[in-house]
Amino acid sequence: MEKQHLDRILKIRLPITIGVILVAVALTFLISKSERDGVGYQPEQPIKYSHLLHAGQLKIDCKYCHTGVEKARHAGVPSASICMNCHSVARRDRPEIIKLVKYYTDGTPIPWKRVYKLGDFAYFNHSSHVVKGINCVHCHGDVANAEVISQKMSFRMSQCLSCHRDAHNRLPELGDKIKNGPVNCSNCHR
Ligand code: HEC
Ligand code: HEC
Ligand code: HEC
Ligand code: HEC
Ligand code: HEC
Repeated sequence: MEKQHLDRILKIRLPITIGVILVAVALTFLISKSERDGVGYQPEQPIKYSHLLHAGQLKIDCKYCHTGVEKARHAGVPSASICMNCHSVARRDRPEIIKLVKYYTDGTPIPWKRVYKLGDFAYFNHSSHVVKGINCVHCHGDVANAEVISQKMSFRMSQCLSCHRDAHNRLPELGDKIKNGPVNCSNCHR
């Protein structure tokens, strides 16, 4: 009786259980795929902020909010106080602005979700690219025309290297001014 029961589990339940586990693994693999592979990854953000409206239509300079691009390793994401330079007056009655004002008055940082993120073992510096004239578009796509940011380039090592080896052709607008980027391991893994 005991053994029969076990046999039944092994013959019927076990294959079913394994099947369910395989499906679950496959599903989580597929669901999280874009996040790992990068391209297309578009997390939902805590406030419906639009680059198309602010950087595109209102023509606010990227540097007004991403203050680090010319002088630091990180571009930086603006704090609520930068938004409040305008939104202490603009559109204060709108639901998304009410959320913004609440983060600001509570002193809670807005929990923006990162779209582009390298592992700690790789070194990238915005300023050394941006001051050479390399436009954001080459790495982040046409942000000024995007309602919501999604990943346009997966920063696998090969993506960095393919531009570093062929900067003239990848950045034709910079002409002969631009040198190739470094390809030694220690330049990017410090
Ligand atoms: C040569 C490619 C390249 C260029 C050009 C570039 N970025 Fe980036 N950007 C990256 C990479 C790679 C990351 C991820 C960095 C990390 O995780 O350390 C990133 C991350 C960011 C982030 C997330 C926050 C941060 O500081 O890491 C912002 C915001 C950003 N970039 C804005 C910009 C803006 C604005 C410009 C143009 C002025 C620009 N980037 C130009 C490659 C680039
Ligand atoms: C230089 C001024 C300025 C700055 C800085 C600014 N905004 Fe705006 N924002 C505006 C204006 C003006 C509008 C309204 C545009 C319109 O009427 O179509 C707007 C509209 C919006 C809206 C749409 C509101 C709605 O529902 O109609 C949101 C959300 C928003 N901003 C969020 C932000 C956030 C978050 C920041 C900071 C990261 C920010 N804004 C920074 C000027 C600014
Ligand atoms: C008014 C402020 C403002 C301006 C102007 C602005 N941004 Fe942003 N940017 C933000 C905020 C807030 C976020 C975080 C929310 C999001 O991802 O939409 C962000 C996120 C980003 C990211 C994704 C960062 C990450 O990895 O999570 C990139 C890339 C970026 N901006 C590029 C640009 C570029 C390029 C321009 C100019 C064409 C620009 N931004 C202009 C406020 C701004
Ligand atoms: C669109 C082209 C392009 C892409 C993509 C790109 N780079 Fe570069 N990078 C350059 C060029 C061009 C230089 C050399 C600039 C100069 O010195 O004239 C450079 C220089 C560098 C340097 C040396 C300067 C410094 O900051 O120490 C490092 C490190 C670097 N890149 C890392 C990266 C990493 C990591 C990535 C990928 C996440 C990347 N780059 C993606 C074009 C690119
Ligand atoms: C231009 C910058 C750059 C150079 C040069 C470079 N790497 Fe990388 N490397 C990266 C980036 C960016 C990643 C991916 C980071 C991430 O996944 O977040 C990476 C990832 C890796 C990984 C993890 C596995 C993988 O492929 O994602 C290893 C191992 C590695 N690099 C070794 C090396 C060695 C060895 C060299 C020299 C032959 C080298 N790298 C040169 C930028 C560089």
